Amino acid sequence: MAPGPATTAPPTATTTSSSTGAVQISEVAKDNTRTSRTATHSHIKGLGLRPDGTADTNSGGFIGQSAAREACGVVVDLIKAKKMSGRAVLLAGGPGTGKTALALAVSQDLGSRVPFCPIVGSEIYSSEVKKTEALMENFRRAIGLRVRETKEVYEGEVVELSPEETENPLGGYGRTISHLLISLKAAKGTKKLRLDPSIYEAIQKERVRLGDVIYIEANTGSVKRVGRSDAYATEFDLEAEEYVPVPKGEVHKKKEVVQDVTLHDLDVANARPQGGQDVMSMMGQLMKPKKTEITEKLRNEINKVVNKYIDQGVAELVPGVLFIDEVHMLDLESFTYLTRALESSISPIVILASNRGLTPIRGASDTLPPSAHGIPSDLLARLLIIPTHPYQPDEIKSIVRTRAKTEGLNVSEAALARVSEAGVRVSLRYALQLLAPASVLAKVGGRGEVGVEEVEECEGLFLDAGRSARGLGAEGFM
Ligand SMILES: Nc1ncnc2c1ncn2[C@@H]1O[C@H](COP(=O)(O)OP(=O)(O)OP(=O)(O)O)[C@@H](O)[C@H]1O
Ligand SMILES: [Mg+2]
Repeated sequence: MAPGPATTAPPTATTTSSSTGAVQISEVAKDNTRTSRTATHSHIKGLGLRPDGTADTNSGGFIGQSAAREACGVVVDLIKAKKMSGRAVLLAGGPGTGKTALALAVSQDLGSRVPFCPIVGSEIYSSEVKKTEALMENFRRAIGLRVRETKEVYEGEVVELSPEETENPLGGYGRTISHLLISLKAAKGTKKLRLDPSIYEAIQKERVRLGDVIYIEANTGSVKRVGRSDAYATEFDLEAEEYVPVPKGEVHKKKEVVQDVTLHDLDVANARPQGGQDVMSMMGQLMKPKKTEITEKLRNEINKVVNKYIDQGVAELVPGVLFIDEVHMLDLESFTYLTRALESSISPIVILASNRGLTPIRGASDTLPPSAHGIPSDLLARLLIIPTHPYQPDEIKSIVRTRAKTEGLNVSEAALARVSEAGVRVSLRYALQLLAPASVLAKVGGRGEVGVEEVEECEGLFLDAGRSARGLGAEGFM
């Protein structure tokens, strides 16, 4: 540890014991989160539940599907109460019944401080990264760590800055700085500190001069210039300066800093020798040069340190959500890995979604019978299953209407009815996809509103899967 102002000279000014209240600083989490992939769900703003947990028929952009929304609301509550880690939930239902939409609504209801990592089952297949490795990486993206650090700092306006020189102990003509005397002024008194020459360099680097407000971290000795004291605000200055008030309270005080990181952030920071600085510095003992790959061993080391910090109460585990859409795309090996990972002491909540019924498990031998949702029975037994149901015609109409509004389209009532009818006859997805091309046709035709003709024309131009297959069959291709 760098020698800090632990070598403080006795304060010259009268000081009382340092009993200043801790200052709360909350930092924005590092931007390592992944944004949602499509804009198909941009009308979804959350689960739209009332405070008592019951679902409004139309709220938060969500229409109908009340039972599933209420169930997801319970899951959100459990996650927030941290009672859910290491569990898995399966959203099961037909295509276009809102499973992906529900998962995104869960993430919106959880807020930005709980990590949410969405992937699609097929994403783990790559020729460069092993699938279990990809799965593990996403697992760790979904586990947050809230680190609460109380930093001891000296903060104030610089009222004295005098380096003390001595003969160079190595001989020669030059003189060296033996130490630096600095006086800091805060609202409740002034303190004189004797600092190590290494801190003098930091001070020079920050270009600190008399009248600046700075703080010095007590145990690392790092110096930060906050700005120029506003007592000097009237002085003639060509440079753009930031004027700050003289800090409140004592010079010597405790500052509390809260930071949110994910375990994946820590893995990356430690795998790269020149990783981040702040919270990463607490993991500093793991920073060994030439580590360029995230290995199992590195993860275990990080887990050990993380567990230690949790036991000491310095850090708090925030299990987030790993959402695996189209989970039937995983194979037997990945499922086994997933089951094992769910049972480790540090594990997120896993939400799965599938629209398959009885399907063979990918990667399993032919002797294994098909399993529900393509998931092996030992994982199935651990799941809480939330079903989603097909929509009623009036619900489809509401969804189409919401969607038209979100896309900023002007659609006539008759056209809305026509699109919704396609939704009932074919599928909700098909109906929603008709909206945008129909609006293009309307614009080309010079009409400000999408009418029935445009919708009909679109239905002629773009087939749904059923009609397309029938057409090919009639032509003798299938
Ligand atoms: N209850 C709902 N309220 C509003 N919009 C909905 C609702 N259910 C689904 N949608 C919208 O309908 C479209 C299809 O839904 P979604 O993609 O969630 O279906 P899915 O169950 O994930 O289907 P698949 O099994 O094919 O993946 C999306 O644009 C979604 O936002
Ligand atoms: Mg989906």
